[in-house]
Amino acid sequence: MRIEADVPLAHCNTLRLPARAEWCATVASGDELREALDFARTRRLALCVLGGGSNVVLRERIGGCVLRMQLTGEELLEEAPGHVRVRVAAGVQWHGFVLACHRRGWHGLENLALIPGTVGAAPIQNIGAYGVEVQEFVEAVGAVDRASGEALRLTHADCRFAYRHSIFKSELAERIVITDLTLRLPRARGPRSDYPALRAALGAVADPSPADVLEAVMRIRRERLPDPAVLPNVGSFFKNPVIGRARFERLRAEHPGVVHWAAGDVVKLAAAWLVEQAGGKGMRQGAARVHERQALVLVNEGGATAAQVLGLASRIATAVRERFGIDLEIEPAVY
Ligand code: EPU
Repeated sequence: MRIEADVPLAHCNTLRLPARAEWCATVASGDELREALDFARTRRLALCVLGGGSNVVLRERIGGCVLRMQLTGEELLEEAPGHVRVRVAAGVQWHGFVLACHRRGWHGLENLALIPGTVGAAPIQNIGAYGVEVQEFVEAVGAVDRASGEALRLTHADCRFAYRHSIFKSELAERIVITDLTLRLPRARGPRSDYPALRAALGAVADPSPADVLEAVMRIRRERLPDPAVLPNVGSFFKNPVIGRARFERLRAEHPGVVHWAAGDVVKLAAAWLVEQAGGKGMRQGAARVHERQALVLVNEGGATAAQVLGLASRIATAVRERFGIDLEIEPAVY
């Protein structure tokens, strides 16, 4: 296994921030993972786990040891007439896995196509798009305890999934490293196509197949979201705020156009709308700016620093608070 000192990370994060790691270990097997954990433990180094680096803001210097997770491989655990159960390693690229499942007739993940990053990152923020969240398919998450090196298996209930949230962002954030995901995928499934933007993209297709949904999701994402390989970004920079009904009614009385979705007793607000209405679309700081087609996405035009990106995010949050009295919460992890 390679463990190197003072490693540049600009090519390991999709915002292309010019960070450097004090130490960096590239981990491609369970043994290498245990070796890297031992290395960090004996030197009392903090750990920072990087998958695709597509949901992180890296500051200039990352003290401690960065683990670059490159565990790959897949195991078919069960093939039943109605579903399959598949275990897939944390370092596999998410989108490639989605396409491979679709081709084999394992459905459900089509709505989550083209999300950057790795399989191991998917349960952490419970990735979601176009009406589907990954948690619907997660049966278990495999992990290793950072302190003891012991292998753990968390059930769906253990993961405490919520909107863009899970136990991996709270209690277990510093305690484990995710090694694999066990998913249960239906083999025949009417795809989910009721999300407004997806419905509109499907146009006249009345009874869309999984292939229709896959194609439509990929088309919308390519039209609306900048490709991180071309214009560095980490997708949505803020979560959509969730507020109570009474508070929502007061907000709506003042701002009748507020874009929202009812979610049971609570209401989810479109953060992109709040940001745009608060004047966010013209905002920039150094080489960091708000994307012109999706106000939730901050892009690096070339040469941006973490301080510029975070400074811009904080000015956007202030503008939204002053205009609407709503607090925005940052979505990516900041290291
Ligand atoms: N809107 C604006 N201005 C904009 C963009 C959107 O006013 O610049 C309004 C539109 O009215 C639109 C509404 O906001 O109807 C919602 O926009 P969109 O459908 O693009 O979805 P979103 O809520 O902004 C969420 C996820 C995305 C995911 C899309 C599609 C979060 C934080 N973001 O965005 O996830 O792709 O839905 O399902 O939940 C990500 O997490 O990185 C990400 C890209």
